[in-house]
Amino acid sequence: MGSPIAMEIFLQNATDTETYNTNGVLESVSPSLLTDDKVLVSVEVCLKPSSTARIEDVQAVVERMLEKRSLSYVDGPIPVPDDDTFLKENVQRIHICDTDEWVEKHEILLFWQVKPVVHVFQLSEEGPGEESSGDGQLSSFNEWILPAKEFDGMWESLIFEVGLKQRLLRYAASALLFTEKGVNPFLVSWNRVILLHGPPGTGKTSLCKALAQKLSIRFNSRYPQCQLVEVNAHSLFSKWFSESGKLVAKLFQKIQEMVEEENNLVFVVIDEVESLAAARNAALSGSEPSDSIRVVNALLTQMDKLKSSPNVIILTTSNITAAIDIAFVDRADIKAYVGPPPLQARYEILRSCMEELIRTGILTYPEGYFKFLNYPTLREKLNMAEAHELQGSLCLSKQLVEAAELCESLSGRALRKLPLLAHAALDNPYSRDPAQFLNTMIDVAKREISQLSG
Ligand SMILES: Nc1ncnc2c1ncn2[C@@H]1O[C@H](COP(=O)(O)OP(=O)(O)O)[C@@H](O)[C@H]1O
Ligand SMILES: [Mg+2]
Repeated sequence: MGSPIAMEIFLQNATDTETYNTNGVLESVSPSLLTDDKVLVSVEVCLKPSSTARIEDVQAVVERMLEKRSLSYVDGPIPVPDDDTFLKENVQRIHICDTDEWVEKHEILLFWQVKPVVHVFQLSEEGPGEESSGDGQLSSFNEWILPAKEFDGMWESLIFEVGLKQRLLRYAASALLFTEKGVNPFLVSWNRVILLHGPPGTGKTSLCKALAQKLSIRFNSRYPQCQLVEVNAHSLFSKWFSESGKLVAKLFQKIQEMVEEENNLVFVVIDEVESLAAARNAALSGSEPSDSIRVVNALLTQMDKLKSSPNVIILTTSNITAAIDIAFVDRADIKAYVGPPPLQARYEILRSCMEELIRTGILTYPEGYFKFLNYPTLREKLNMAEAHELQGSLCLSKQLVEAAELCESLSGRALRKLPLLAHAALDNPYSRDPAQFLNTMIDVAKREISQLSG
């Protein structure tokens, strides 16, 4: 699979047409991360809040450290070497990313096959800045400086069908590349608008924010500053309709100002766009003041205006699963359906919950037990093992997969609530036995599902 990081390399070498020509037809890039026969692997380095080190310095030191490594590459943390006082002082953590597709195929990435691409960043602790709509009731938008502390770990916590997250990352990377290269929009059109649609609770809003955060880290050498503006579509349709047109104008004026700074990458999240369509329809049928049409139109006009700026990506969501026939849809280059999590994703979501309960000491692994297996490994082992020889980690993981199988109709949001409900339902709340916990969780899941259908 082609890689956003690979594309960032192209961005950095914007004048290197050689690189561009061999990889120019982005959709047909061969399904590998190879350049010069090496696999590009992102290594994210998070600086401590107190660090004042220069990004380039840290990057150089980490690159040298990685050159000395003679291990295989798998997703996850790499310890900061104890004997490196510079890194110890400045670096909070180092993480390898994006190798999961290889691991999925059971290919092991050895150090000599890998070209690490190091991204150094520092989380902003500023928190959201809010803009009130003036009436003191609803704020019309929130803004964050990215990468923000609030969204740390969000990308990793979201689990979908295999490939969805990578597809979105690659899309955004391609869109930024086309813009950077000055591709003529009359010949090749692209809008830098993404629409995620699907039932509620499936992680769409979170994915928008997590994607923006990821991109802000991956593209920080091109765009040292990133901002996220979250527009509250509902608030734009408050009862003060006559004010709403002004609100939209004010909001987009602010976004325009951010975008004018060319080293700024701006993400605009417009959540639940179906409320705009609903407002428009209501206005057409006469049940709402016609002001709402003006608001929707103002929003669409403003979005079209933003399109001419290369450094803005618009992320929209809709909870309507059927065809959404609003003007927004036409504007989106990528429309991704985000559905209820498939079995593998449900298993991994529940596994991350179990591991968190173990990390915090609410549950403890039984003796001689290692850890919950990841899904591909579990499948493989289950195929090999005879039913009677299931033991230890395999046994618990199998119980977890049974829970995941059962939860077919539950959303990601509902799944992440199960552990709390299960804990509250334990016969003995002081028992820290995961097997017992899983049994209770299965009962609770059954109850939740019957309530859904009943
Ligand atoms: N696919 C998923 N993987 C992991 N967690 C999920 C997933 N879908 C939903 N969640 C959990 O549910 C919460 C709510 O998701 P949200 O992004 O608000 O969904 P939506 O916008 O689709 O209604 C998230 O914070 C996350 O904890
Ligand atoms: Mg949402």
